[in-house]
Parts: sequence; C-alpha cells; structure tokens
Amino acid sequence: MKKITKAIIPAAGLGTRMLPISHAVPKEMLPIVDLPAVYFLVEEAVKSGITDILIITNRDKDAMEDFFDLSIEYGNALTLKGKTEEAKRLYDIANMANVYFLRQKETKGLGHAVGRARSFVGDEPFMVMYGDDIIFSETPVCRQMCDVYEKYGKAVVGVKPVSMQDIRKYCSLKVDELPGEDRITYCTDMIEKPKPGEEFSNLSILGRVLLTPEVFDIIDALKPGAGGEIQLTDAMAKMARTDGVYALEFEGERYDMGSKVGFLKANITRGLSHPETGEELKAFLKGIVEEL
Ligand code: UTP
Repeated sequence: MKKITKAIIPAAGLGTRMLPISHAVPKEMLPIVDLPAVYFLVEEAVKSGITDILIITNRDKDAMEDFFDLSIEYGNALTLKGKTEEAKRLYDIANMANVYFLRQKETKGLGHAVGRARSFVGDEPFMVMYGDDIIFSETPVCRQMCDVYEKYGKAVVGVKPVSMQDIRKYCSLKVDELPGEDRITYCTDMIEKPKPGEEFSNLSILGRVLLTPEVFDIIDALKPGAGGEIQLTDAMAKMARTDGVYALEFEGERYDMGSKVGFLKANITRGLSHPETGEELKAFLKGIVEEL
C-alpha cells in the first residue's frame, strides 16, 4: 500500500461570499486569531505525515506564498531585538513542509483546479484539502482518511450529515452500510448541489477527499456541471459508480472560512483556547451574552 505523502489545497476560488474583503485579501489569508486559515490546513497535513503540499492559487493570492517563505530581513530584525522565539516561529513555519504553488489560470471550478495537479501527483494516491474548510480535531482529519485508505485501498471522501436545507448547497451521497463499521460506509453514487427530490441522503462531503490518480483522466473528460463549473463531485461520482469509494464520517469540528459566520465562529473557538486571548475573550463573551 502506497503511503500518502502529497496533498493539494485548491485555493483559487473567487471568494464571493467573503466580499468585499476577499477582493484585496485572499480569504485563505484571513486570520484565525494570529495565523492565516491556510496555515491550519498545512499543519493538519504535516501532522498526518504529508511532506509535499501543492497550493492551487491565482494571480491575486501571492500573500500565501509570502507567508510560507522566510523573510531574512524580518527574522534578523526580530533577532536583533532579542525576539528569538518569534523569529524561530517564522523559521519553523517556512520549514514545516515542501510547499509548492501553481496558478489556476481560469476559475473553472474545483474539479478543474484539482486537474492542474496531475504532474505534481504522478502515480500516487493524494489528499485534497478544500481551501475553505478548517477542521479542528484530536486526530488530524487527513490522518483519519489515510487510515481508511490503508485499510481498504480505495478513494475516501470525508463526510458529515447536514440538514436537508443545506444539502442543496453541497453534494449528496448514496451509501451502503459496511458490517462492523461505525463511521465508514461504501459510496456508490453522489450528486453536486441536488435539486429538491434529487438527494440521495443527508450525507455530504465536507472539505477532505483522498483520491487515486485515475481521477485525472475522468476530470479531463468532464463537461461543466452545476453552476457551469468543472465539478470534482462529478468525477468522484463516476469513481463511485464504477470502482467504488469509501466515505468516512470524520471526527472534528469544521469551520467554513469562505463564509462570514464560519470565519467568526473559527475565531471565537480558537480565541477561547488561545493562551494570550482565552481568559479576556471568555469574560467579554459572558458580558455580551447577558445582553443578547
Ligand atoms: P467554493 O465554491 O467553496 O469557493 O470552492 P469559492 O468559489 O471561492 O466561493 P464563493 O462561492 O465564490 O464564495 C471550494 C474550494 O475550491 C476552490 C476554492 O478556493 C475553495 O477552496 N476553487 C474553486 C478553486 O481552487 N478553483 C475554482 O475554480 C473554484
């Protein structure tokens, strides 16, 4: 069984739900307390044993590349001021993984973005971490997914139940239960943004999939799907209908950083557990709650 060492983070979307800020600041660079959202994706991958990460980006998102680079001048200035801990932190971020960048020239959809990664991936299974989806969990979700791949040897999608109202915004999966498995099911079909009556179930893919390289030929043959975009779900649906795909109901709390409320929730959660902000934020929130 091949070890998973590569991940792709598609982060070239327009981020219209986060306008106007996303017009000037990539939504992946919006902070969760003092770290940009994309940092948490790379950290999750690294903690899962992944060494090489390709971020699919576009011409307006260079700030991500700067963040994972090392600014020697900045580091030196901090060291001169005796702020060695802070300097080390920046150095550690720059060295946490081999982080590569590739621009998606046209915003043609998530499937199209993943298709750009064929030569990076080669002939290996790989993780896809949707750039908007930050998941805080005890065991990193990528690790949870790799464990399923190592057990069953096929593509794995990370799922959660969502309300039937919300499923229309995501995708809906057709699954069969597996004897002896609590959180793992076998997926035989899926549909992106189902219209009322088209849903298979209330299980949806949220933010993480582990794919095998066969997906690239399927993506290349895809026609635009929901919203006129090349949909990754359409490629995975074909895999599910032919070879079969496993679905893991992962453990972890997901925050949609592409939405205003998701951004706020992630900051409150993280702010409450952050050593520099936790106590003061808790007192502040208690005060507000009384007035709500
Ligand atoms: P979303 O549809 O959630 O992101 O795509 P978006 O298009 O940026 O969001 P809105 O609707 O305009 O607010 C899911 C993931 O796929 C990436 C996005 O960056 C996000 O991480 N994506 C989407 C691409 O990389 N390229 C695309 O062409 C489309």
